[in-house]
Amino acid sequence: LTVYVPGDSAAVSVGAHDVAQRLEAEAQARGIAVDLVRNGSRGLFWLEPLVEVATAQGRIAYGPVTADDVAGLFDAGFLDGGAHALALGATEEIPFLKRQERLTYRRIGLADPLDLAAYAANDGWQGLARALQLDAADIVQQVLDSGLRGRGGAAFPAGIKWKTCADARSVQKYIVCNADEGDSGTYADRLTLEGDPYSLIEGMLIAALAVGASEGYVYIRSEYPQAFRVFSRAIELATAAGYLGDNARGDGKPFHLQARLGAGAYICGEETSLLESLEGKRGQVRFKPPLPAIAGLFGQPTVINNVVTLASVPLILDRGAGFYRDYGLGRSRGSIPLQLAGNVRYGGLVEKAFGLTLRELLYDFGGGSASGRPIRAVQVGGPLGAYLPEHLFDTVIDYEAFAAVGGMLGHGGVVVFDDTVDMAMQARFAMEFCAVESCGKCTPCRIGSTRGVEVIDRMRAGIERERNEVLLRDLCDTMVNGSLCALGGMAPFPVLSALDHYPEDFRARS
Ligand code: NAI
Ligand code: SF4
Repeated sequence: LTVYVPGDSAAVSVGAHDVAQRLEAEAQARGIAVDLVRNGSRGLFWLEPLVEVATAQGRIAYGPVTADDVAGLFDAGFLDGGAHALALGATEEIPFLKRQERLTYRRIGLADPLDLAAYAANDGWQGLARALQLDAADIVQQVLDSGLRGRGGAAFPAGIKWKTCADARSVQKYIVCNADEGDSGTYADRLTLEGDPYSLIEGMLIAALAVGASEGYVYIRSEYPQAFRVFSRAIELATAAGYLGDNARGDGKPFHLQARLGAGAYICGEETSLLESLEGKRGQVRFKPPLPAIAGLFGQPTVINNVVTLASVPLILDRGAGFYRDYGLGRSRGSIPLQLAGNVRYGGLVEKAFGLTLRELLYDFGGGSASGRPIRAVQVGGPLGAYLPEHLFDTVIDYEAFAAVGGMLGHGGVVVFDDTVDMAMQARFAMEFCAVESCGKCTPCRIGSTRGVEVIDRMRAGIERERNEVLLRDLCDTMVNGSLCALGGMAPFPVLSALDHYPEDFRARS
């Protein structure tokens, strides 16, 4: 009798540990032998803690379960899938999950994330096995042909980045994974680190083969202590099993992997700041060029990719570039893990092929706002993404379509606001966020963001509104064109979108 209770930090934050303890105690008191598995989260957060039982009819779900519900679940015979007010039926048939196209996240929630046998049983290491049969150049070609673009936010073709690094001449190369997931409302990286860590290790092993790297680092944000613990343990277990170390993959070539914990700076998610931080220095943005692919960590050629990008690679190698490329549209190929958050009824991870509309995501998956009030604004792509009003909800989830309406998909974070939101305050927040997180290297960002807060405050107070709007737009123009990196260069986008779409919110309030 196998029962699954997620050990993922989102589930734990709403009582999953208590539920697991009560389940064990109740089973013992009733003399029932239960095999309790702490799986990863399925990413259906409004149902957490989501308890599943393995039955002859497949896995049956119950949720959200509290510790006090446990005795009643036993009374209802939940171990055989018995009826109960919290019963959700077969997990795979829950509409939110059933309508998805889970490629990169196909294993999330199936098993104990650290169970190597379960990973292997669920197609694990298949991409690596295929990569070991190919020349390095052919691996790069597969990634190029798949159309995979960087899922950290910039959407740069992963294969071109790998080729640049592969072509660089050096005895030492690195694979660095950017797990400094700082965008508001995002958790896709965390779900992989906590729920399917070997998929990232497998992706990094393939990247190392492709470019000739022998060392790897995963830079995890300080706010993810559990992800750091789980992933560090996954490295130990993968090393003991021979996948990492001096004879990684058993092919005689070394690949050593280390996890490193950040210290809470948003800017360390910018790749060159991250490299500075990894080198033990203050996280400050470097000038580009040189690109990290040519001179990155410790001045050596470095592939630096986001968690989702690297974790998508094993499937591409396993099933072939064409399989992945067949999902999506235009230049946006494959799938994207969209992360619904904020004022939304059904918050959670939606992995879909590019091509659905924002409206489908918000209503068919998200079920509208949690408050039941009309959705007034959606911020896609983190704190540097534009706010989109209702008339743009039919925009297709595709990098180019979003850029065409002044937005960006970024890392796939989707934060929902209802009609009680004050968009001038949201604009102010963007400038304030930039002021707080600025690394201080360049003036438009360091000084401009503080001035931006002041100008918005004056507008809200009704002081020379028109003149201050001209000033604010001018300031945004300077920041966009004069900043060294995306923080100062993109913080104006949410500000300008708020000004353009919600001008009434910038008038003085009585
Ligand atoms: P970028 O466009 O400058 O570079 C994208 C990537 O491509 C970099 O890794 C760069 O080194 C590489 N690259 C560019 N040209 C190349 C070439 N010819 N050969 C090899 N590699 C090449 O963008 P940047 O500044 O790295 O990232 C900005 C994005 O980061 C934003 O669009 C935003 O969406 C995202 N972001 C994500 C966050 C998160 O939490 N995931 C947080 C903040 C921002
Ligand atoms: Fe640093 Fe801001 Fe300049 Fe980026 S834009 S380099 S964060 S000061």
